[in-house]
Amino acid sequence: AALAAPALAQQGYPSRPITMIVPFAAGGPTDTVARLLATEMSKDLGGSVVVENVGGAGGTLGAQRTAQARPDGYNILCHHIGMATIPTLYRRLAYDSVNGFETIGMITEVPMTIIARPNIQASNLQELVALVRRQGTGLNLANAGVGAASHLCGLLFQTAVGAQMTTVPYRGTAPAMNDLVGGTVDLMCDQTTNTTEQIRAGTVRAFAVTTPQRVESLPNIPTAAEAGLPNMEVSIWHGLYAPKGTPAEIVNRLSQSLQTALKVPTLVQRFNDLGTSPVPQDRATPAFHRTFWTQDIARWRPIIQAAGTYAD
Ligand code: MLT
Repeated sequence: AALAAPALAQQGYPSRPITMIVPFAAGGPTDTVARLLATEMSKDLGGSVVVENVGGAGGTLGAQRTAQARPDGYNILCHHIGMATIPTLYRRLAYDSVNGFETIGMITEVPMTIIARPNIQASNLQELVALVRRQGTGLNLANAGVGAASHLCGLLFQTAVGAQMTTVPYRGTAPAMNDLVGGTVDLMCDQTTNTTEQIRAGTVRAFAVTTPQRVESLPNIPTAAEAGLPNMEVSIWHGLYAPKGTPAEIVNRLSQSLQTALKVPTLVQRFNDLGTSPVPQDRATPAFHRTFWTQDIARWRPIIQAAGTYAD
């Protein structure tokens, strides 16, 4: 691989399709961000960026696939805050969850929404909290596995409420959402990129957003703090990664392409419709992303340790 990379650069990069791994199910929040990005990066790079969903195990399977892929610029990963919680949540992994990657740049920060099946016996967050305290493990909390954003937010929610529910893991929140709409699970914390349209359609009930301010595209949903549940602030940042050892000139080319994609008006508009926006350009860089990621691992470690939740 060390010899192949300069040769590839000489013959013009990219000369074949780039695989962008999404470590969760198709049609969910990470997939939505990745596909919008892949479309615009394809145009900029003059070659196709193809999204491949490698879901399961809270996003660790897709991350592992990337960490173990050839570092030749044709394998990249679109992942989220899980990259910062997985190093603490998992005691054993088949890949290096910190040093196995090159950072390309951050993409976006997405608010979470606390949602429930449409016929839940609660009409506001206070009533929901009371219900959870009353029924506890009698309620099902859907998530996308240990390491998912929905897992982290669910952890914060249960801690804030002071009660545990029964966790039901999925390969992504897209399939979890189907079950929530169908009423086979009760609650979920999920990103606005996956919940906005369901909330607007009334197929799920939304109780709060997890950002300090209300989300512009969901003006009627209170913040968790406003609705009486402080300590529920979390934004789901996303970033692009390549396997460790991917040549710097390729990483920089991908970062440049990411920055270009994040300025495309149709992408910005779609992000805004879904409750989010691209990060400022100076954050869509390898160096900023690396620093932010490192700090975020340190930020979540004591919180996860206090919650005592681990996977093997
Ligand atoms: C997904 O794409 O399914 C989500 O990002 C899952 C999650 O992390 O909650």
